[in-house]
Amino acid sequence: MNIQVLYILPLLIFLSEFHLSHSAKCHPEDKKVLLAIKKYYNNAYETISWDPSTGCCGWNSVSCGERTDRIDGIDFSYSPDITGHITELFGDLPYLESLSLHKIPGLIGTIPHSITKLTKLKSLIISWTNISGPIPSYLGEVNSLTFLDLSFNNLSGSIPPSLAELRNLEGLRLDRNKLSQSIPESFGNLTPSLQYLYLSHNQLSGTLPKGWGDLPFLIVELQRNKLEGDVKFLFKKNKDIQRVDFSRNQLEFDMSDADFPESLFNLDFNHNKIYGSLPQSLVKLDNAHLNVSYNRLCGKIPVGGRLQERGYSAFFHNKCLCGDPLPDCSKH
Ligand SMILES: *[C@@H]1O[C@H](CO)[C@@H](O)[C@H](O)[C@H]1NC(C)=O
Ligand SMILES: *[C@@H]1O[C@H](CO)[C@@H](O)[C@H](O)[C@H]1NC(C)=O
Ligand SMILES: *[C@@H]1O[C@H](CO)[C@@H](O)[C@H](O)[C@H]1NC(C)=O
Repeated sequence: MNIQVLYILPLLIFLSEFHLSHSAKCHPEDKKVLLAIKKYYNNAYETISWDPSTGCCGWNSVSCGERTDRIDGIDFSYSPDITGHITELFGDLPYLESLSLHKIPGLIGTIPHSITKLTKLKSLIISWTNISGPIPSYLGEVNSLTFLDLSFNNLSGSIPPSLAELRNLEGLRLDRNKLSQSIPESFGNLTPSLQYLYLSHNQLSGTLPKGWGDLPFLIVELQRNKLEGDVKFLFKKNKDIQRVDFSRNQLEFDMSDADFPESLFNLDFNHNKIYGSLPQSLVKLDNAHLNVSYNRLCGKIPVGGRLQERGYSAFFHNKCLCGDPLPDCSKH
């Protein structure tokens, strides 16, 4: 044995012991619950490595907290093998911080009430599944949540007002469902920590909650709904907003005096009933993707910035909008 091996050997032993001891670890209560979940999902592929004779911290699709050795994450994403309901058993893993159920076409039913027992849950992702029915209002009780993603499901009914009680949220995605009625008035008082809100591709109607003028959103996606009214107030105070998509709604307001902040890099209003003329403030949006096509706008497109480079289709199909890049105004 040469001298280098002598140096390295204790380190190797230390590392392998560390690895063994970590993966061998498992709180007996967590193991019991995980084995019950394995059974509930009929030994689905994702749980094949869940061998009762080994420590659950080493199992696939789960993670343990480093100091607690308690199960803090479950990720069953991309699992064609998991079918049936979201089991109540998830609620019996009290240290769970992250639950990801993404792209599981066989998942049906609703979100179980036991989720409210998870007082450390930060991230809940249930997306691209076949869960249906209304969004349960008790989700508003899981106030540890920073990220809630229920996009691309078959959820219907109205958005529960209680979701505004989630004061730690940074991101909320309810897009691509069948949600209807208006956005609840309580959403006017969403937490200021919320940076992005996706409600697009639903059947939401009515006007925006008035409180949104005071919220520091960065991204708001509301395209493909049936929203009405005036949304200019969204841009009055918020000078950091970056992406706003209102395309394919029924907005109806005079755009002439809108003041769009320079921070915007996506502003899409295509397919609404917006009238008046384009405001001079659009000239400031150098980096923005802009689309105001299919509205009822009129008058000359302001000259300056990159407005003339944007191409015809950003402005076409309006009532009487004219000037570069559309045909000359004298032609009207
Ligand atoms: C919902 O289930 C159907 C079959 O019942 C399947 O074709 C579809 O892909 C599923 N949807 C999602 C989003 O997984
Ligand atoms: C989606 O929900 C509707 C009712 O809102 C139901 O008729 C339809 O079968 C559901 N689709 C799936 C794939 O579950
Ligand atoms: C603007 O939106 C319309 C309608 O969806 C689309 O046809 C057009 O290509 C878009 N133009 C630009 C520049 O995004």
